[in-house]
Amino acid sequence: MLNRDIAEVLVSRDEINSMVKQLGHALTEDYKSKNPLVIGLLKGCIPFISDLLKELDFILEIDFMDVSSYHGGLQSTGDIKIIKDLSTPVKGRHVLIAEDIVDSGRTIQAIRALLLYRGALSVKVVTLLDKPKGRVVELQPDYIGTTIPDAFVVGYGLDYQERYRNLPYVGTLKPSVYASTEE
Ligand code: IMP
Repeated sequence: MLNRDIAEVLVSRDEINSMVKQLGHALTEDYKSKNPLVIGLLKGCIPFISDLLKELDFILEIDFMDVSSYHGGLQSTGDIKIIKDLSTPVKGRHVLIAEDIVDSGRTIQAIRALLLYRGALSVKVVTLLDKPKGRVVELQPDYIGTTIPDAFVVGYGLDYQERYRNLPYVGTLKPSVYASTEE
């Protein structure tokens, strides 16, 4: 049913599976003796972090933050609002932020600065998708599943107006979807 709103599949379920496995191997190599705090950014991280955690073969803890920058639309406003903060102190911890997509880079830049200010030993970023063409700040994710073109995508956690997060792949929406939801 959701499939009929999709114009093009950009990253298939199989491709996601193999990217998550590769990221898991690389992270296991780099973090196996660091007992990191893995932080997922709600709500988009949920499918990704859930799959990724199962590929991480080392001691870790998890926590979540909810920050908003897009307010359900298509473009970043530049405003970062903390809706839910961490319940775990980051002071003296190695932190790994798990993100679904890095676009302008503003969200990660702001959170990274906040966690370093709070005393994190290191803050690195693992993202399934990277949209380097959308970048407005200098930020390079440390671990990337794949790079995608500068298009608005949905699925595997990513939403358009809170919908489509439950698609098992990443794709673009048909223009008719935007036309029918415009206010
Ligand atoms: P940034 O601050 O511009 O890097 O934005 C990061 C956040 O914007 C992501 O966590 C997503 O929630 C949202 N975002 C960026 N690009 C897309 C997209 O193509 N589809 C859906 N959400 C997006």
